[in-house]
Amino acid sequence: MNLTGRVAVITGGAGGIGAALARRFAAEGAAALILADLDGGAAEAVAATVGPLASGVAVDVTDEEQVRALVAETERRYGQIDVFCANAGVSTGGGVEVDNAGWDRAWQVNVLSHVYAARAVLPAMLARGSGYLLHTCSAAGVLTAVGDAPYTTTKHAAVGFAEWLSVTYRDQGLRVSALCPQGVDTPMLATGLAAGHLGAQVIAASGAVLSPDEVAAAAVAGMAEERFLILPHPEVADYARRRAEDPDGWQSGLRKLVRRLRAAGHEPPPPSPPPPSP
Ligand SMILES: NC(=O)c1ccc[n+]([C@@H]2O[C@H](COP(=O)([O-])OP(=O)(O)OC[C@H]3O[C@@H](n4cnc5c(N)ncnc54)[C@H](O)[C@@H]3O)[C@@H](O)[C@H]2O)c1
Repeated sequence: MNLTGRVAVITGGAGGIGAALARRFAAEGAAALILADLDGGAAEAVAATVGPLASGVAVDVTDEEQVRALVAETERRYGQIDVFCANAGVSTGGGVEVDNAGWDRAWQVNVLSHVYAARAVLPAMLARGSGYLLHTCSAAGVLTAVGDAPYTTTKHAAVGFAEWLSVTYRDQGLRVSALCPQGVDTPMLATGLAAGHLGAQVIAASGAVLSPDEVAAAAVAGMAEERFLILPHPEVADYARRRAEDPDGWQSGLRKLVRRLRAAGHEPPPPSPPPPSP
């Protein structure tokens, strides 16, 4: 899909990859861009830098009513939504010890919000036989994010849902891409590093951190080819192939990394026992 003249909604548009997508879509000639974010003020500020075609709005993507209202209002104002970018995401860091509220938040933002968006936009897209869903997942959704179990689990689910949508609706005109970058220099990575999250440290140490603008350029190139899997870090394709061909060998390599991290003092906290049943 070519972005010229398109109306696009971008969740998580207040910064990082979402803001870069907005800048890039504008440069490609998009007609209107709606940046939706929990932080509506920051989304408006980004929109102001993108230009008069962009607007910012406060939306919590984990609230289905708010997602429905965002879609309905955009369709009312601009006639249709050509592209919906389900890009908002969260990373908690940690493993099984992350409390249920943390797991639930990851599930709500990284997975269920994509379901709410698809439910809201599909009727009009399928009725006209065209529409594009760009789901920002992660390389963690095709590999494993060492040090971040909720992120790995929910991003795998996000890739699975995107693939299901693509398999089910492509013949009816829907296009779906799963954008799966590895490290990207955004507030999410900076916050993870500041909090001492192991996953963020591994990513930063890998030396493979792209700028949000590079990721947005890869997204637009992948969308132009209507490719399902968009991998801004090309090496991820090779990792995924090696993982598929030899899962045990692949895990053995990752375990070496985990052993090195443990030797350097990064021991994951022991899991706490489950609460007693009532
Ligand atoms: N930074 C990385 O290294 C990296 C790598 C792979 C994938 N990703 C994914 O890219 C996407 C964008 O992340 P980013 O790196 O730009 O981080 P970011 O923290 O800069 O952006 C995430 C945005 O999502 C918004 N958000 C969070 N919860 C929300 C909610 N409930 N409703 C609405 N908005 C909400 C935040 O306010 C924030 O503006 C995420 O899905 C993330 O998982 C990031």
